Amino acid sequence: MIIDVVSIFPEYLAPLDLSLIGKARRDGLIDLRVHDLREFAHDRHRSVDDTPYGGGAGMVMKPQPWAEALDHLVASAPDERRPRLVVPGPGGVPFTQALARELAQEPWLAFACGRYEGIDERVYEHAEHDLGLEVSVISLGDYVLNGGEVAVLAMVEAVARLVPGVIGNAESLVEESHEDGLLEYPVYTKPASWESAPGVTREVPPVLLSGDHGAIAAWRHQQRLERTAARRPDLLHASQAVRGTAGAAGT
Ligand code: ADE
Repeated sequence: MIIDVVSIFPEYLAPLDLSLIGKARRDGLIDLRVHDLREFAHDRHRSVDDTPYGGGAGMVMKPQPWAEALDHLVASAPDERRPRLVVPGPGGVPFTQALARELAQEPWLAFACGRYEGIDERVYEHAEHDLGLEVSVISLGDYVLNGGEVAVLAMVEAVARLVPGVIGNAESLVEESHEDGLLEYPVYTKPASWESAPGVTREVPPVLLSGDHGAIAAWRHQQRLERTAARRPDLLHASQAVRGTAGAAGT
């Protein structure tokens, strides 16, 4: 998979050299290229923003550097291939595991990191209508970040780990939170009995030491239901709506 990221702070993307994503890059599974938007700004100050038409607070990202950056990405393909353009922003569709799975199917993603009050709307029109790109504005959640870079770190990590070969043990992807609409069960490791404070001993739930795989699976499923009901009741309601059942959480 090819991933291009365009930003005025390319250094922000440095963590994508680390850990599993860094290894996937070194293994050739992900070709991640980070571009400095200012390379495409040609005035003396290499400026990328200006005041908004119609007034209002803050600055807007100018169309010309963005258009040149996107033209450059499209021209970098040896053939007619086009990236899917992802623009992170609080006004986008919610980023979910389902959307991460969808993006992981794409052979080529380009992320455009906006800053300030956003990118001039005509850049989206240029991308869609002049360059023929599919454009997706995607939000991490209902809060405002200073720019798209942190969102790109999160999205690239969520997407890249779904690319075949990036995670060694593909089974570990199956039982995760959000893969089937429920949160994950609690996990424990050794020691079975742990003194967390003087005179306080905390035990691993006995069922996990029982060797009874059926009982363990049932306990874990119950834990997932209880956790989801406590922390994310909206997920339970959504999955019940999908299944057409209005029953209690345990059914
Ligand atoms: N940029 C600013 N806020 C954002 C958010 N909530 N999600 C994605 N990108 C953003």
